[in-house]
Amino acid sequence: MGLSLSARARGIAPSPTLSIDAKTKAMVSRGEQVINLSVGEPDFQTPPEASLAAVGAIAAGFTKYTAVAGIMELRRRIIRKLEQENGLRYEPDEILVSVGAKHSLFNIMLTLVDLGDEVIIPAPYWVTYPEQVRLAGGVPVILPTDESTGFKVTPGQLKEALGPKTKAVILNSPSNPTGAVYRRAELEALAEVLRPADCYVISDEIYEKLIYGVEHVSIASLDEEIFRKTLVVNGFSKAFSMTGWRLGYTAGPKDVIKAMTSLQSQSTSNPTSIAQKAGVVALDHFDPDVVEEFRARRDYVLERLRGMPYISCAEPEGAFYLFPNVSRLLGGRYRGQTIDTSDRLCELLLEEARVSLVPGSGFGAPNNIRLSYAVSRVDLEIAMERMEAFLGEVER
Ligand SMILES: Cc1ncc(COP(=O)(O)O)c(C=O)c1O
Repeated sequence: MGLSLSARARGIAPSPTLSIDAKTKAMVSRGEQVINLSVGEPDFQTPPEASLAAVGAIAAGFTKYTAVAGIMELRRRIIRKLEQENGLRYEPDEILVSVGAKHSLFNIMLTLVDLGDEVIIPAPYWVTYPEQVRLAGGVPVILPTDESTGFKVTPGQLKEALGPKTKAVILNSPSNPTGAVYRRAELEALAEVLRPADCYVISDEIYEKLIYGVEHVSIASLDEEIFRKTLVVNGFSKAFSMTGWRLGYTAGPKDVIKAMTSLQSQSTSNPTSIAQKAGVVALDHFDPDVVEEFRARRDYVLERLRGMPYISCAEPEGAFYLFPNVSRLLGGRYRGQTIDTSDRLCELLLEEARVSLVPGSGFGAPNNIRLSYAVSRVDLEIAMERMEAFLGEVER
C-alpha cells in the first residue's frame, strides 16, 4: 500500500540484453574497442526518400494529431502492400498503425488476454512476448524447440498445448533469435491444428523481407478460416532500418482492431504524424541489396563459426541473427575461470575477447547465444578472430 510499485511493475523481468548492453557501453566509453554483435537493428540507413518525406511533412505543418489508427493514406498503402506481397485483403478499419510493432503486440495482448488466459509461445522466442503476456495478466505457455526441428514448433506439440484457456498462439517467422523460417507446408500443418481451436493466431512477420533463398508465407494467407482468426503484425524497423521512427501495424479482424484502436486512443493516440508520412514512402523503397549483403555476412560468419571448436550452428534462413549452440563449451575453463552457463560465456567473451553477444537464456534457450550480423564485414572479421582465439584457449 501507499508508496509502493504495482505488483505488475514489480513483476517485469529486466531485459536480459540490458546488463550486457550496459557493460558493453561502459567498456566503449572507457575507450575499449568492443565489437558489438548484440544489436537488434540493421546498420544501413533509412531510405532517404522516406526521410525527405518526413522533412516535407514538417515543412508543410503536418505536425498535429492524426486519426488514432493512422492516416488513411498510410493505411491504404499498407493494405496495398499486404495484398501485393502477402496475398491478404483488408479494409481500412482492419488496420491499426501503432508506435512500433512492439506497441502493436502490446495492444494485442491487452485487448485479447484476460487474467489467467494462456498464450502459446514457441521457444526460442523474442524476449518481449512472454513479458507482454504476463503484463496483460496472462500465462505464457512455452513450447521448447531446438536444432532437431530447425527451431520450429511441430503440429503435435501445438495440439498438446492447446486447451480451453488458450487465447492465442504467437508465431514469428522469420524468427528472432533463431532466423528460422516456416515453409508453406509447415504452416499448413500448423493451420490444420489451429483451425478447429478456439483461439487467435498472432503472426509477427517483421523480418519477412530479410530472408535468404526461401519464400515468406503469411499463415493468414492459407485460407479464409485462418485469415479470420489471425492478427498479422509488421513494421518498418527491420526492412527499412527505421527503428527510431517507431512505426508498426496490425492487420486483423475488425472487432479486434476496433478494440485495439480504442485502447490506443486512451494510451498513445496516433503514431507520430511525420513518421507516418515517411512510412507511406518507405514502402516503395525497399532495397534488395540489403538482403544480398546480409546473406553474404551470414554465410561468412556461419563458415567461421563452424570452423571453431565446441560450437555448432544451424543455418538460419532469415532475419540477421545466428544462434549457435554452445552446450559443449559449458563446464569448460578459460584462464582458470569456469564457463558454467551461456550467460557466463557471454560475460567472458565481452571482458576477455571484447566481443558482445547475447546469452540465449532470455530467449528461453540457455544452450545458445545470439549473434547479430547487422554490423560491417570488417567488424565481423575482427569479432571472428577474437572468438576463435578465445575458444582456442578454452580447456575442457
Ligand atoms: C520479433 C520482433 N518483433 C517485433 C519487434 C519490434 O520492432 P519495433 O517495435 O521496432 O517495430 C522486434 C524488434 O526487435 C522483433 O525482433
